[in-house]
Amino acid sequence: MLRNTSTGYGRIAIAFHWTMAVLIIGMLGLGLYMHQLPPTEQATFELYQLHKSIGFVVLTLAVLRLVWRLLNPSPKLPDNMHPLEKVGAHLGHVGLYALLFALPLTGWFMVSASPWGIPTILFNTWPVPHLPVPGLLGSQEQAETFFKLLHEYGAYLLIALIAVHVAAALKHHFIARDATLKRMISTAPAKADS
Ligand code: HEM
Ligand code: HEM
Repeated sequence: MLRNTSTGYGRIAIAFHWTMAVLIIGMLGLGLYMHQLPPTEQATFELYQLHKSIGFVVLTLAVLRLVWRLLNPSPKLPDNMHPLEKVGAHLGHVGLYALLFALPLTGWFMVSASPWGIPTILFNTWPVPHLPVPGLLGSQEQAETFFKLLHEYGAYLLIALIAVHVAAALKHHFIARDATLKRMISTAPAKADS
């Protein structure tokens, strides 16, 4: 089943979730790793280009995923969850979705503002234009620093949200013993609804 139902995720939502989970966790690791390499090395430059290229793949997938989510029903959270837990789960998901956009966009603004003017060539093939940077942020250096801070602290916030998200998924599976994790792995529970 491709589409979500009111009780389970469909194959498309599951494929988006796990493809993006792998990409995001890889990008967080790559970002933190490349940041502490010597900036003038050719290998560092290539890792930055790879980071930017995968970042644009994430941005594209985030747009497609959001459209798919809006076109589909959202599976209901388990009945045994406390109302406050449900609010927390929704806020957590909204936060994750927001950061799936915010990280690539702040990265894009950062490289656009940089006085170095380094081009972004996706996978060494497709050039990406720089974004117009609002003048009210001051000089190019100041604007670059602003977006760098947003990108860095956005990444730390994303790491914290993912840690809580994974802990919640494991708690559902091993302590509450409900179908929350299973329905993000297989469409089987959703089939029961059709
Ligand atoms: C899923 C998307 C992304 C994630 C999760 C991500 C994550 C990160 C992380 C964790 C860092 C290290 C931060 C630090 O230690 O200061 C970083 C650095 C960086 N990112 Fe991203 N990033 C993403 C997308 C992008 C995109 C689309 C671009 C540019 C088009 C970009 C450009 C950069 C640059 C230039 C740095 C180095 C900043 C510096 O030198 O301080 N990132 N990113
Ligand atoms: C790697 C370990 C991960 C596990 C075990 C996991 C588990 C889950 C589970 C079980 C759900 C379904 C919750 C429900 O049915 O209400 C879910 C939803 C979601 N996850 Fe994850 N997740 C992981 C990583 C990630 C990452 C890295 C991200 C993105 C940064 C992410 C973003 C989301 C979002 C946005 C939803 C809501 C989907 C929707 O309703 O449209 N997850 N995750």
